[in-house]
Amino acid sequence: MAERLRMGLIGGGPGSFIGPVHRMAAELDGQIALVAGAFSSDAARSALAGEIYGIDPRRAYPDVAAMLTAEAARADPIDFVAITTPNCHHLSAATQSLAAGFAVVSDKPATATLEEARTLRDAVAAAGRPYALTYTYTGYPLVREARERVRRGAIGAVRKVVVEYPQGWLAGPAEHADNRQAVWRVDPTQAGPGGCIGDIGVHAFNLAEFVTGLSVDRLLADLGTVVPGRRLDDDVSVLLRFEGGARGVLMASQISIGELNGLRIRVYGETGSLDWHQEQPNSLSLHFSDGWTEVLRTGDAGLGADARAATRLPGGHPEGYLEAFANLYRDVATVLRGGTAPALQGVHQGVRGMAFIDTAVRASREQSGWVAFDGR
Ligand SMILES: NC(=O)c1ccc[n+]([C@@H]2O[C@H](COP(=O)([O-])OP(=O)(O)OC[C@H]3O[C@@H](n4cnc5c(N)ncnc54)[C@H](O)[C@@H]3O)[C@@H](O)[C@H]2O)c1
Repeated sequence: MAERLRMGLIGGGPGSFIGPVHRMAAELDGQIALVAGAFSSDAARSALAGEIYGIDPRRAYPDVAAMLTAEAARADPIDFVAITTPNCHHLSAATQSLAAGFAVVSDKPATATLEEARTLRDAVAAAGRPYALTYTYTGYPLVREARERVRRGAIGAVRKVVVEYPQGWLAGPAEHADNRQAVWRVDPTQAGPGGCIGDIGVHAFNLAEFVTGLSVDRLLADLGTVVPGRRLDDDVSVLLRFEGGARGVLMASQISIGELNGLRIRVYGETGSLDWHQEQPNSLSLHFSDGWTEVLRTGDAGLGADARAATRLPGGHPEGYLEAFANLYRDVATVLRGGTAPALQGVHQGVRGMAFIDTAVRASREQSGWVAFDGR
């Protein structure tokens, strides 16, 4: 087995959500080890996180700059950073890391604003180092299968995409109830101009383009702020048009009481359709115009190469969110070792995601109706 790749985590301090998920996912296959981090903007909390993660205390740094300087001077430096802070820190963490020669894995959205995303794209190109974006849902075996089936023409030309992402956890003023995850998500100085649309709408947008292989070229957006006093959107409806004419409906909402993490995509083609739901990720339904329904399951021997490669266990042993996330890290390891990983999302998708947020926020605010979507 090749030596483990060394990861430096940015964010992921005590009580945080996604940083610890990155750590678990990265380490699942034994190809990557967390060895360093700037886990918090508070030096004491960064040190505490280092203790919790069990790394060398000298490698739990007070901030990103200190980590990059110290790691670059080591004989065994980190191979890459993983950025898991609130959105407003993504650009500076990524550009500093790239400038110091490190590859970057970043959580979505790529940055806080579209302008920042374009700056990031230029920085990635100039540095010539790998940059990967963790659109988690692209890691599920049956999402990769759905993509492959559409590509192979199993449902014919795509006519309609319905992608929905309802959650209920922000149905009340959670930001005033000491919910750490809520506080920054509803603050435009930390989240950027999009609330719900930047937090989960962008996942739905990416999933629609990932599964269909089509690019959105027009949209009509209606974003609402339902909870009184909130400064960003918490309820999103967007109509989509894809190149070639297919239509789409995207709904993302964080005020949908009773919903947990209800990401679901349905794609209707000329001869069939498919349906995948994140909360039951090990089934993918296909329906055909001649009256047949086929339910595919993770681990089925008849699945395509991409889905089989993304599956760790025999069928019937449920795989979920962590394994999907770990598939992204397996792709990252492949790329860092010089291979290719076509499903891995990068700065191109990062810019498209930020363009989606930016275009929809503006179009809704200005009530512009249908607007052109330029994802460059
Ligand atoms: N891929 C996904 O499905 C997914 C899920 C959740 C969150 N996210 C994204 O991950 C990011 C973090 O979200 P979260 O819910 O984990 O947030 P969180 O508030 O739970 O954690 C953020 C962490 O970053 C740390 N931090 C803040 N500023 C820092 C700095 N300057 N340097 C170092 N650390 C700093 C905080 O101390 C905290 O530990 C966001 O960009 C979010 O959009 C992605």
